[in-house]
Amino acid sequence: MIYFDNSATTKPFPEVIDSFVKVSSDFFGNPSSIHRLGVEAESLLGQARKQIGELLQINSGEVYFTSGGTESNNLAIKGTALMNRNRGKHIITSAVEHASVREAFQQLKEHGFRITVVPVDKEGRVSVSAIEEAICHDTILVSIMHVNNEVGTIQPIEEIGNMLKGYPKILFHVDYVQGVGKVALDIQKYKIDLCSISGHKFHGLKGTGVLIVREGIQISPLFSGGNQEWKLRSGTENVAGVVSMAKALRLTLRSYETGLRKLSEVQIYLLKELHKLQDVVIHTPSKGRAPHIINFSVKGFRGEVFVHALEQKGLIVSTTSACSSKKKAISHTLLAMNVSKEIAESSIRLSLSYDNTLEEAKKAITIIQTTVTELREVMS
Ligand SMILES: Cc1ncc(COP(=O)(O)O)c(C=O)c1O
Repeated sequence: MIYFDNSATTKPFPEVIDSFVKVSSDFFGNPSSIHRLGVEAESLLGQARKQIGELLQINSGEVYFTSGGTESNNLAIKGTALMNRNRGKHIITSAVEHASVREAFQQLKEHGFRITVVPVDKEGRVSVSAIEEAICHDTILVSIMHVNNEVGTIQPIEEIGNMLKGYPKILFHVDYVQGVGKVALDIQKYKIDLCSISGHKFHGLKGTGVLIVREGIQISPLFSGGNQEWKLRSGTENVAGVVSMAKALRLTLRSYETGLRKLSEVQIYLLKELHKLQDVVIHTPSKGRAPHIINFSVKGFRGEVFVHALEQKGLIVSTTSACSSKKKAISHTLLAMNVSKEIAESSIRLSLSYDNTLEEAKKAITIIQTTVTELREVMS
C-alpha cells in the first residue's frame, strides 16, 4: 500500500505508541490528584509542555493542551469573541479555512457577530491589503490558516502579522495544523496571538492538540469544570497523549531538518509527471506552497470514483479534505479559487509525509496513469 493521505492523518511513530502505552500503564494518575501518582503525572505533563514550548520557541506557559485542531480553533475563535464581545463584534477570516474555523465563524454570526470572509486569488491566497481594508473600528479577531489543507497554499502570515502590529487591539489567530514540521512558522516574530496545532497530523495520536495563547492574551474558556490548563480548558488532561505528542513533534522537527529536500523532490516529481497527463488540471500553486500537498483534477472523472479506483490498486489518496470527502461536498477552497464546479468535483489530493519515497511516487504515477486509461475505456 502507498499511503498518500497524510493531510487527513499520519501514521503514529512507533516511539509515540510506545510512550503512550508506557505512560498509560505506569503513570496513570490524575495530574490534579495530590498523591504521588498524581504528582508524577503532573510532572510528565509539565515536561511535555516544556519540551513543546522549546520546540516551537515559545514559553511553556503559552502551551494549552486540547483534543486537537478542531477544539483549538473553536477555543481560539469563540474564546476571543466571548472575552471581547463588549469591545467589538466584528471578526475576519478567509474563504479557504478548515470547517472548524468556518463553522465557528458561522455560529458566531448567528450570535450577533459580523463576519467578513476575505476572498482569495486563483492560487488560494489572501491579500494582506484585503484583510486590512476589512478592518473596522470594532474588529477583535483575524483568523487565517497557515497552510491550506486542500491545495497546500501558504498564506502570507508574516505580512499579515506585520500589518496587524498597527492594530494592537485585534487578536491574530493562525491555524497551523497543516504546517507543523513541514513549513516553518515563527510564532513570536509574526505577532501571532493564538495558534492551533494537532498531534495526529505529525505522527502523534488522534485526540491530542495544542492551542498556543501568547503571554498577556486573555480569552474565555468554552468548557466549565475542574479548571485545568490555567482555567482555560477544563477536563482531565490526556497525559499519555500529550507526552507522546511531544515526542512526535520532536521526531517530526528532526525529519524537517534532514528530510525537507527529499520531500520537495518527491512533490516536484509528482507534479512534473501529473502535468504530462492528458486533461489534468493542477490546483496546487507553482510557488508559495507546502512541500507535502498536491491537488489536481482529471477532467471527466468524479473524485470519489477515482479515489476508489486508485485504492483498488493500492494507492491511498483522498478527495479534497477528510471532512468534506465523506460528505461528498464540493471543495469550498477550489470554488473560492474560482475553479469551476465540474472541475472541483473531480479533484484529488495527494498528501505526503517524510516517510514517503521517490520509489513510491514512481509507482503512484504508474497507478494513476493506468487508472486514467482504464476509467476512460469504461466511460467511452
Ligand atoms: C487546516 C486544518 N485545521 C484543523 C483541522 C482539524 O484538526 P483535528 O482533526 O485535529 O480536529 C484540520 C484537519 O484536517 C486541518 O487540516
